Amino acid sequence: MRLCVRSLKTAATEIRMWVFFLSACAGGAALLYVLYSWLIPAAVQYNASLALLWHDVIVERVLDRITGSTRPQRLLRAVQKKATQGDPQSVIATIDHFCRHSEWAMNVGDEKGSILDSVVTELNPSSALELGTYCGYSTVRIARLLPPGSKLITLEFNPAYAAVARQVIAWAGLNDKVQLVEGPSGDLIPQMKELFGVQTFDFVFLDHWKDRYLPDTKLLEECGLLRKGTVLLADNVICPGTPEYLEYIRNSSRYESRYFKSHLEYTKVEDGLEKSVFLG
Ligand SMILES: C[S@@+](CC[C@H](N)C(=O)[O-])C[C@H]1O[C@@H](n2cnc3c(N)ncnc32)[C@H](O)[C@@H]1O
Repeated sequence: MRLCVRSLKTAATEIRMWVFFLSACAGGAALLYVLYSWLIPAAVQYNASLALLWHDVIVERVLDRITGSTRPQRLLRAVQKKATQGDPQSVIATIDHFCRHSEWAMNVGDEKGSILDSVVTELNPSSALELGTYCGYSTVRIARLLPPGSKLITLEFNPAYAAVARQVIAWAGLNDKVQLVEGPSGDLIPQMKELFGVQTFDFVFLDHWKDRYLPDTKLLEECGLLRKGTVLLADNVICPGTPEYLEYIRNSSRYESRYFKSHLEYTKVEDGLEKSVFLG
């Protein structure tokens, strides 16, 4: 009888320990979830370095490791699952939703994207060049607004990004408007006339690595790819920032330049676009 009471007491103690252990695990998991989903993203919204460190380094690496996939692959899966084939607007909306609610990504984003839209719409370019494709978000934004018969050439030197972008562009139904070329801008710009029969561009969107903005602009000038009236639109001129490019473009008598204030994609950190008209 005494033995039975003792084993009942032991069992009760064990149950209490398990309940305590499981509650501690559930509490810890809930706290981690709240930190990861709300508190940290909200806290880093206003600080450029923290936002980029959190979204572009920590979260991306952790999710890559957990899921065994890359961020562009996850973004593509979201497009294939939720966007309507042949509808560029639904591709754009799906990517923006993915980036606001699941994972930040370095697209120009919806806020600066609407400035990009107005510049493209106003210019109505028949030949356009994009430096830096990534997953094809801005490519789709630009190409959907081009008039019939126009072409957008977009350059991307990362083959894995280019592979995803091709599928995103195809999903949006814009293959006939876009030519995605794989390779570094510094090598491809001098070959534009020869390889693609381009004379000059009406519109150039600069959104590749920031230290290439200035050398590639000078290369476009040297190669005679700009005409009087060509519009250069440069993203991220504040965050991460392109001080040498801004210094050049704002002080050169060959350009008329204007800053459009906005925010770094999907955050509250200040960033903006610089629109510069080549005067010849
Ligand atoms: C900020 S992302 C482009 C985002 C894209 N424009 C959008 O808004 O959806 C920059 C991209 O430029 C590519 N890139 C950087 N330097 C480049 C270069 N010199 N030539 C070609 N691609 C480059 C990177 O691999 C990266 O995919």
